[in-house]
Amino acid sequence: MKNSILAIETSCDDTSASVISDGIIKSNIVSSQVDHTKLGGVVPEIASRGHQKNIIYIVEKALEEAEISRKKLDAIAFTLGPGLLGSLLVGSTFSKSFGYALNIPIIGVNHLKAHAFSHTINKKKITYPFVSLLVSGGHTQIILIKSYDKMKIIGETRDDAVGEAFDKCAKILGLDYPGGPLIDKLSYDGNKKAYSFPDTNVDGYDYSFSGIKTSFLYFINKELKNNPDFIKENLNDICASIQSKLISMLMLKLVKVIDDFKVKDISICGGVAANSYLRKKIFNLSESKNVKIHIPEMEYCTDNAAMIANYAYYMYKDKIFSDFDVVPYSKHKIE
Ligand code: KG4
Ligand code: ZN
Repeated sequence: MKNSILAIETSCDDTSASVISDGIIKSNIVSSQVDHTKLGGVVPEIASRGHQKNIIYIVEKALEEAEISRKKLDAIAFTLGPGLLGSLLVGSTFSKSFGYALNIPIIGVNHLKAHAFSHTINKKKITYPFVSLLVSGGHTQIILIKSYDKMKIIGETRDDAVGEAFDKCAKILGLDYPGGPLIDKLSYDGNKKAYSFPDTNVDGYDYSFSGIKTSFLYFINKELKNNPDFIKENLNDICASIQSKLISMLMLKLVKVIDDFKVKDISICGGVAANSYLRKKIFNLSESKNVKIHIPEMEYCTDNAAMIANYAYYMYKDKIFSDFDVVPYSKHKIE
């Protein structure tokens, strides 16, 4: 196997390792830390301890599944940021030590860029320029991509990410974490027009999701005062209505970007890309605006090391390596 890279992703609560050889993913192991489900969200300190515990086993599994020995690796890639600092430190320190011991280059990868390119995994064709809508529990961004190393954030959330808004609304309804997929499922049998919520949009291409979450909380509390069984009796309609609101907020800015920047290719990535109503709206948009939609396979939508490996492969080909004194960054940035 030629040009083999081991990639490690530890930006949040999932420990993941992947091997890519000549641009093709040979393994992608993801271990989710189930503890956070019970805790109602990701607890940074618990997440970094979880990575410490898991990382060796996940890496061994990734190498084993790819049928490659560590001595055959040509580089070690890892998520440099953004993400939770304690989590990033585990992955980056491990990768540096591994690269140092094997005497091979290391490649620090921007997590957001890796997400934006996740639909190109396994050498899928790319058409530039394209716009990437990155929607997850940690990110909500519209990124304009002119080449693999030239991209610009056009719009982003000023507060909560859309996945976070899904999860917080679900929590208000007493649903488990992460609530996004549950709201999606419950919405199937609901009427999305049953309840309406005020517009909390901000100017330009940016998003804001904290206002809608607050008005949802006030709405539920008010209804519960009149009828303590309000949630139980109307759960499907409530879910369909709030889902419709959140997705229409996402679509509004995406349409604006498509019109203003005249792009013809759109990629959707991140955990919320799994949302069935978003997918429906996006495919309608593709017909009405004559744009091409690219959605990564499900396993590459959520956080995974294969997307880090994929982006690292582009960097490797251009010999873009990191220095061994490189340090992770927690804040969202695309340099
Ligand atoms: O990309 P991801 O796995 O992790 C990061 O946050 O980086 O995204 C997880 C987020 C959670 O907020 C989860 O509720 C949301 O994606 N999510 C969904 C759906 N599936 C996952 N939100 C709405 N509908 C879904 N079907
Ligand atoms: Zn992510």
